[in-house]
Amino acid sequence: MPAARRPLVAGNWKMNGMKHSGAELIAMADGYDAALKDKADLLICPPATLVALLAAETTGSGIAIGGQDCHAKASGAHTGDLSAEMLKDAGASFVIVGHSERRTDHCESDAVVRAKAEAAWRAGLTAVVCVGETRQEREGGSALAVVAAQVRGSVPAGASGANLVVAYEPVWAIGTGLVPTVGDVEEMHGEIRKVLAEALGEEAGKVRILYGGSVKPDNAPTLLKAADVDGALVGGASLKASDFLAIAKAYA
Ligand code: PGA
Repeated sequence: MPAARRPLVAGNWKMNGMKHSGAELIAMADGYDAALKDKADLLICPPATLVALLAAETTGSGIAIGGQDCHAKASGAHTGDLSAEMLKDAGASFVIVGHSERRTDHCESDAVVRAKAEAAWRAGLTAVVCVGETRQEREGGSALAVVAAQVRGSVPAGASGANLVVAYEPVWAIGTGLVPTVGDVEEMHGEIRKVLAEALGEEAGKVRILYGGSVKPDNAPTLLKAADVDGALVGGASLKASDFLAIAKAYA
């Protein structure tokens, strides 16, 4: 991986976690030793109820805290929603936008995802923009085209290595234990970087592209060392400090 891109291992806790889950995060912070700090960034995106608490608990640990979604607007009459500014105020420095579960459960289009990424930047957060094809699209041979279109539609103008992370998460690999071949991951990450370069030129070389979908301690060394893979977005295996650290140690 070029020196311009520091690996990022990100955990997405989804709708899991209570106040006592802070103990797991403290265990992650304890295991985030100097050798690992030297090699990779760590990020945990807990449910919104825990962002402020966990941000306070991890101050000084080097582990960043992020949100899992945000509204495009800064404030207003949007019952149940959270703005990027609120996440920032609570101590977040990243926010995931366009996760496939949001795209499916909440019918989020590329345009909605793009507006959320712009909101993240407005608030001073780094946007983790998720893209990925369904099983039918993969089997039908359109995965590259589908994901390229998602990147074109979801990444706003003005993206940089500092404000954008892209997460490639094949929908069929999320929570299933299935993973693409390393060849397929490398091909897709290369395609994503090519699409980013059309818009960003050389800056595309600074944007981290994570792989996500059933990343576990046993497959992490292979997946995370693949060409153009700059880290992982981890769901289930980010809930336990021992698993999450074992994944990150692919870089140590
Ligand atoms: P998983 O989830 O690691 O549990 O497959 C990944 C994700 O949805 O970000």
